[in-house]
Amino acid sequence: MKVEEVKSIVKTQRISAHSHIKGLGLDENGFAIQAAAGLVGQEQAREAAGVVVDMIRSKKMAGRAILLAGPPGTGKTAIALATAQELGNKVPFCPMVGSEVYSSEIKKTEVLMENFRRAIGLRIRETKEVYEGEVSELTPVETESPAGGYGKTVSHVIITLRTAKGSKQLKLDPSIYEALQKEKVEVGDVIYIEATSGAVKRQGRSDAYATEFDLEAEEYVPLPKGEVHKKKEVVQDVTLHDLDAANAKPQGGQDVLSMMGQLLKPKKTEITDKLRQEINKIVDKYIDQGVAELVPGVLFIDEVHMLDIETFTYLHRALESALAPIVIFATNRGRCLIRGTDDVYSPHGIPLDLLDRLLIIRTMPYNRSDMEQILKLRANTEGLEIDPDAISALGGIGTKATLRYAVQLLTPAHLTAKINGRNHIALEDIEETGSLFLDAKSSAKILQENKDKYMS
Ligand SMILES: Nc1ncnc2c1ncn2[C@@H]1O[C@H](COP(=O)(O)OP(=O)(O)OP(=O)(O)O)[C@@H](O)[C@H]1O
Ligand SMILES: [Mg+2]
Repeated sequence: MKVEEVKSIVKTQRISAHSHIKGLGLDENGFAIQAAAGLVGQEQAREAAGVVVDMIRSKKMAGRAILLAGPPGTGKTAIALATAQELGNKVPFCPMVGSEVYSSEIKKTEVLMENFRRAIGLRIRETKEVYEGEVSELTPVETESPAGGYGKTVSHVIITLRTAKGSKQLKLDPSIYEALQKEKVEVGDVIYIEATSGAVKRQGRSDAYATEFDLEAEEYVPLPKGEVHKKKEVVQDVTLHDLDAANAKPQGGQDVLSMMGQLLKPKKTEITDKLRQEINKIVDKYIDQGVAELVPGVLFIDEVHMLDIETFTYLHRALESALAPIVIFATNRGRCLIRGTDDVYSPHGIPLDLLDRLLIIRTMPYNRSDMEQILKLRANTEGLEIDPDAISALGGIGTKATLRYAVQLLTPAHLTAKINGRNHIALEDIEETGSLFLDAKSSAKILQENKDKYMS
């Protein structure tokens, strides 16, 4: 199994609407602080999420599932993302939206399986022979290009690594020079180079180079102790999906046509069930040998009512497996039709037998003062100035429509303010934008009242 070159592939999250959220905002006893870490109110749901975090940390929860249920704009997605923040970046968190399974290229269950494996981490500890130290010299040595062109090529690179105990000069292959460039290694960085594979890891800037005026977020590390050439325990966090992807073979044959095809299309790799089983076997072996440790993470499926009966059945089975992450579902639906059936209605559009094994966390509509607090927070993170009576008017709109709608009005209101020659949002800007747009409820009402004027 390929482990050394495995790069973690983390799904990028669509979090811009939630960028103010930094965690669940609980105190040391697990009680919610009214406003903390970017979250306001919704105390019970936050405390429940805190219990979930504890269970995940103590690994008491693999294979269990949670449902966040509540009306639109009550913070379900926000709380799920806050849970991820609390877990930290060593515990995998894979967010997806129910409708993602409907891809025209991949089977629905395949999408689910891939995301399941993105949510299961493996911490691998290996003792490796390395050269480690602060880079005190880095010189590429060039020769005339052997191809006879005008260019020059790097024939090798001279690097000197320094530790508290001494220093060592190494002459390295050009391939390692590329690796050094990829990691953006410069003189003054602390790095290690794996002796067998030549893999380069930049650990940070040596703290001898720390300056008071450094504005960039740079991580400073102390000068390594011990010899440059030594054995070191290297810890690597990967997910099962990372391992699948790194060990999958590119699709297509070796003939010219399929190679052309690969040039035109981005290279696709095929992860088969057989490959996954093989990876599982090796993972099991690693765990038995004590080299690796399983880190069950979280699979977050937002808008779960978008899944259909086939995917629900598959999910239910997958949850039974020993290798299951914790699954957090969220939905704003009440009783509705289960997709893929003609007439099976169920609470939240989730089959009853699956619903039966979920722990359900409810989110409640916000009161006006919570809403105003959240709106102020959002305005702050977006760098917008807003008058108190404008906040209060937005709060009023939020209670009639949803919080999300009120949050979304902030940007157009800011534009209106600018057109009116102001930098801060005033009451009249809110009134003006409020009259330009409709929220979902009012729009639905207008449709209902003017049924005969629309095509249907
Ligand atoms: N308690 C809260 N504290 C701070 N911000 C919040 C809170 N609840 C919601 N928000 C913010 O309000 C907006 C709407 O919330 P969110 O998207 O989480 O609602 P939701 O319950 O997932 O809605 P939907 O059912 O429509 O998906 C987001 O920008 C979110 O970050
Ligand atoms: Mg949501």
